[in-house]
Amino acid sequence: MLKHLISIHDYSREDILKTLEMAAAFEKRPNQPIFSKKVVASVFFEPSTRTRLSFETAANRLGARVIGFSETTNTSLTKGESLKDTIKMVSNYADLIVMRHPLDGSTRYASEVSSVPVINAGDGSNQHPTQTLLDLYSIIKTQGDLNNLKINVVGDLKYGRTVHSLLQAMSHFKPTFKFISPEELRLPQEYREYLSERGIRFSESKLLTDNINNADIIYMTRVQKERFSDPIEYERIKDVYTLNSSMLKECKPNMKILHPLPRVNEIAQDVDSSPHAYYFAQAQNGVFTRMAIIASLLGRENL
Ligand code: CP
Repeated sequence: MLKHLISIHDYSREDILKTLEMAAAFEKRPNQPIFSKKVVASVFFEPSTRTRLSFETAANRLGARVIGFSETTNTSLTKGESLKDTIKMVSNYADLIVMRHPLDGSTRYASEVSSVPVINAGDGSNQHPTQTLLDLYSIIKTQGDLNNLKINVVGDLKYGRTVHSLLQAMSHFKPTFKFISPEELRLPQEYREYLSERGIRFSESKLLTDNINNADIIYMTRVQKERFSDPIEYERIKDVYTLNSSMLKECKPNMKILHPLPRVNEIAQDVDSSPHAYYFAQAQNGVFTRMAIIASLLGRENL
């Protein structure tokens, strides 16, 4: 059966660990042109800086050629072509499709009509599995282990696709979560049930500094303007949390702050020089992790 990466559930615990191992090997030797006969399509129906550029860098470092678009105005979608026909066409041209789309479930649909593997580079507020794999790579690199960590997850827990994928992936490794959000952006019930069914400990709070000194990881997220139908509601809660360096004085020495980025105001600039800040290195880890994901979906078991 054709293998895709649409949801983090498509990867078992073993698949995740194998991907992280391969990412580490690519980090040691980042130029390995093992796919010089392959073409990767990068089709982004929604804006991106990190995901698109790190995937394209990853494909280039693997020797593949890259085709695609980063916005749809120059494609035949503007003439009324359907998503189905667009994906069927792209899968005629490329060996692998990396796709971002604003609609939940769109990449799953694409995988059902594509004749080549599809990677979900973010679908609406649903999933962002490749971000999660690079988040786990960042966690294992900085903490030395994925097991039994205390993780504070802060911000937009309702629409945050990176949060939804992260908590599902980390559930393999017995974490304890503290979910910090305003009531309007609380983690949806389906995800709270998911954790409860698996015996994962979690608590909820509205206070940014709650339990901050016990955390191994603080995972900050942006309040996402593009997910709000009511701009007044967004304006009211957009700056609800700002992490600053004075809040970090009593934190564990090895605590790291992650953020999928882009940030708006949720991490003050004065945190950037803190030894706890890891978000820019995290984004760099995206290249190695995405090299591993591409390699595995193009059939490489090992390097
Ligand atoms: N983390 C992330 O998805 O960033 P981009 O939107 O810039 O790709």
